Amino acid sequence: MPTFKDQSLIRQDNFIDGAWVSSTQPMSVNNPATGEVIAEVADGSSQEAKMAVEAARRSFADWSRVSANERSSLLRCWHDLIIKNADDLGALMTWEQGKPLVESITEIKYGAAFIEYYAEEAKRICGATIPTNAAERRLQTYKQAVGVVGAITPWNFPNAMITRKAAPALAAGCTIVIKPDPATPLSALALCELARRAGLPAGVINVVVGRDSKGIGEILTQHPDVAKFTFTGSTAVGKLLMKQCASTVKKVSLELGGNAPFIVFEDADLEEAVSHCIATKFRNCGQTCVCTNRIYIQESVAESFTNRLLEGMQSLNVADGFTAGTDIGPMINEQAVAKMENLISDAVAKGAELILGGNRHEQGELFFQPTLLRSVNDTMDLVTKEIFGPVAAVQTFTSEDEVIEKANSTDYGLAAYFFSRDVGRVMRVAEALEYGIVCSNSGVFSTEVAPFGGWKQSGIGSEGGKEGILDFLETKFHSMGGITR
Ligand code: SIN
Repeated sequence: MPTFKDQSLIRQDNFIDGAWVSSTQPMSVNNPATGEVIAEVADGSSQEAKMAVEAARRSFADWSRVSANERSSLLRCWHDLIIKNADDLGALMTWEQGKPLVESITEIKYGAAFIEYYAEEAKRICGATIPTNAAERRLQTYKQAVGVVGAITPWNFPNAMITRKAAPALAAGCTIVIKPDPATPLSALALCELARRAGLPAGVINVVVGRDSKGIGEILTQHPDVAKFTFTGSTAVGKLLMKQCASTVKKVSLELGGNAPFIVFEDADLEEAVSHCIATKFRNCGQTCVCTNRIYIQESVAESFTNRLLEGMQSLNVADGFTAGTDIGPMINEQAVAKMENLISDAVAKGAELILGGNRHEQGELFFQPTLLRSVNDTMDLVTKEIFGPVAAVQTFTSEDEVIEKANSTDYGLAAYFFSRDVGRVMRVAEALEYGIVCSNSGVFSTEVAPFGGWKQSGIGSEGGKEGILDFLETKFHSMGGITR
């Protein structure tokens, strides 16, 4: 067990209406690196979800009327407590999720940055005065909180995907009910403990943990008192949840799957391209929606790039996330590991050449070797599907037009990366890629100050930046008559 400075951050129960609420049965939380059970937490159900929505509804009236300054300072206080406890929160994350400790602590700070940013934005939610079309009338718009928000968050970012939704929701004056993934409830509950200590009023933030994704999900997507629903997860599940939201016409925002191209043109700085390719391919063991999925290298530099990539990947350190120097931790579960095996055997059967890895790693059941394949083509599942694991698949291209067409020929449109030192090409390619996030000459872009969102079947709406609060606000038009005497 890792050492925690503050053991009381480890909570076992749902957090509803400012109180810890148990469930009739427990569920186990496992450390994916060792398989050991690290905690027994409440296995919440639709019943607790309903209680949480009712609490959020009751609290909404008061919270939405709290002054922007007060909301802002409560959020700021929550942020400060998270930063103060970053080491414990990071350890808790590595314990239940597996990512290297350094990555976990980085995520805690990234997550906290959304709270700090939206604490500031809370004071900048402005309506407008519109020049009137009639002398006896005045026209104004107000921005008002949507109401109760239902949120379902994933296991790959157990902290930041919560704060990226909760911070703008709370800053806007909404209250929220969150269902974290059952694999990673501890990070979510620790955030609630710190929100409570920060003084956020009862019912403003609620978390229901449990395996009954269907039952809890139905409450969050169909309860008439939930005004807005937000989800991060797979495209398949997102479609289902969106359909469920239709019955009560909820506002919906979705951060779904990706199939990120990583394009390297012959004029690129290859050293840089390789190191960013590794960073974006292997972050969180390849388990992010924005991880590189399809690597396209211009033919004339393909051999040189692939050799350097191979060399870089050979030095990646696969180990328990708590071991110093770990680059890649375990995958989240057996299903995720089996998927890697299936993708690799499909690719090899269709002509791909396996040049590194390809198997489970000796570190343990859920560890997988960093794997490199070349001579990949578009018929292979690892090109058409989201890999979501430590497998890199290289293909070649000859012209700019060809690679843009290939990069765009997917239903996904979340993140795309490309490397070129030709400024004209950088502009052309950035404009031509059909993606919500385009990253040139870098594999790093995540920040609280900019919008994160997908096009096509990668999602609806944006999180982060100025855009990230808009979905939690309604616009009201006030046409005020009787002005002239
Ligand atoms: C994601 O993969 O959904 C989040 C990644 C990020 O925010 O950087």
